Amino acid sequence: MKVVMIGTGYVGLTTGLGYAKLGHHVACVDTDVAKIAQLDLGEVPFYEPELSEILREMQEEGRVMFTTDLASVIGRAEVIMIAVGTPASPTGEADLSAVFQVAEQIGSLLDHEAVIVVKSTVPPGTNKAVIARVRAAMQKAGKEVYSDVVTNASVPEFLREGSAFVDFFKPDRIVVGADDRIVQTILDRLHVGINAPRVFTTVESAELIKYAANAFLATKISFINEIANIAERIGADVTEVARGIGLDRRIGPHFLQAGIGYGGSCFPKDVSALHQLSGMNGYTFKLLSSVIEVNNRQRDLFFAKIERVMGPLKGRKIAVWGLAFKNDTDDVRESAAIDFVQRLCGRGAEVVVYDPKAMRNAKVILSQQVTFAPTALDAAMGADALLILTPWAEFRNVSFSFLHSSLLEPRIFDGRNLLADLDLAQKGFEYYGIGLG
Ligand code: UDX
Repeated sequence: MKVVMIGTGYVGLTTGLGYAKLGHHVACVDTDVAKIAQLDLGEVPFYEPELSEILREMQEEGRVMFTTDLASVIGRAEVIMIAVGTPASPTGEADLSAVFQVAEQIGSLLDHEAVIVVKSTVPPGTNKAVIARVRAAMQKAGKEVYSDVVTNASVPEFLREGSAFVDFFKPDRIVVGADDRIVQTILDRLHVGINAPRVFTTVESAELIKYAANAFLATKISFINEIANIAERIGADVTEVARGIGLDRRIGPHFLQAGIGYGGSCFPKDVSALHQLSGMNGYTFKLLSSVIEVNNRQRDLFFAKIERVMGPLKGRKIAVWGLAFKNDTDDVRESAAIDFVQRLCGRGAEVVVYDPKAMRNAKVILSQQVTFAPTALDAAMGADALLILTPWAEFRNVSFSFLHSSLLEPRIFDGRNLLADLDLAQKGFEYYGIGLG
């Protein structure tokens, strides 16, 4: 099939390359000239495992191309996907201006039958508004005859950064929200080769599935973080409690890692958008207010623990391992780690940071006072304490005897309980995790 993917961020690029790998011909469109030029040269503008290899493979096979010019590729496209950003506006609602702008552009250019799919995460009701805008633009451009044959669907994505390709080819399910049987069949054909249950539903339900899934996962994280806080007070170990409850198949073992809370480009934005959407529809989603509050408090509590142990931070040298919002990505959007570094700087601490992939992105945000170290152990040299804020596997594989001698004080605050099972107290460290009794 001929697919046009508009937006080459994490979602658009990964999904576009995924469809190409499935055998479709994909044209990826973006207004960012530099990004398109980079992709054309076979370079991925961000870090995501496997993506570079697949990009080159698909380019060699001629199944993917990149352009800034939608008009040049829209002809004969059977499926047109919108995967542009929907950042949170200051009030918490999703900012849909980029989605609507693209819808109008599609309408002004399209002159054949096609399915418009919204991949961006959008509040229920947006798909209807998108197709209305496409049709209005078609009519304005004198193409009324086609405005009846253009259809739309919501196919939300559930990709996780860091494992996006595995998630694309082995998803738990494919959700297709379309009010038209033929559209359902077209989109089923688009996913031939992916062995996963299909959920065919209405557009509104598909839109809500996406928000409900992310809000539920965020709720699970805030729940285990509250259990961690209780565990800490009564001398229990949250990692063992998580295992103990996670083995119950009704609960499941995933998303029960206690820590400094969730971040990233999706959870904070989607949880607040669903909360906001509920309010706008006259309903107070009480649970989500608490999920957000607990997530914010989690950072405060951990920061307070650091200050309680260390006293005033002014002039103290603090090493930070991890800046990305989670491991295996270079993404620092809504990263709890960045927030911690800013708080430390605000207290007058001397901060030395290291992250295997996210330093380039972090440099754009963090102040000049922060020093970027070339390795994890370099960052720790002479520090009064080490903070672990992103759970990168490489942090488990350092020489702990070397780390012990490098730190001025062998003190570790582990905001992800990454090293909780390594018995660091036995190795002479002062070790503080979250909810470890
Ligand atoms: C999420 C959803 O998982 C994915 O389905 C959706 O398409 C996009 O949003 P992503 O943002 O890539 O994916 O990250 P995810 O792995 O879900 O983690 C989100 C945040 O929660 C991270 O900050 C992570 O550190 C935190 N987290 C996750 C925890 O604190 N504890 C956990 O047990 C799991």
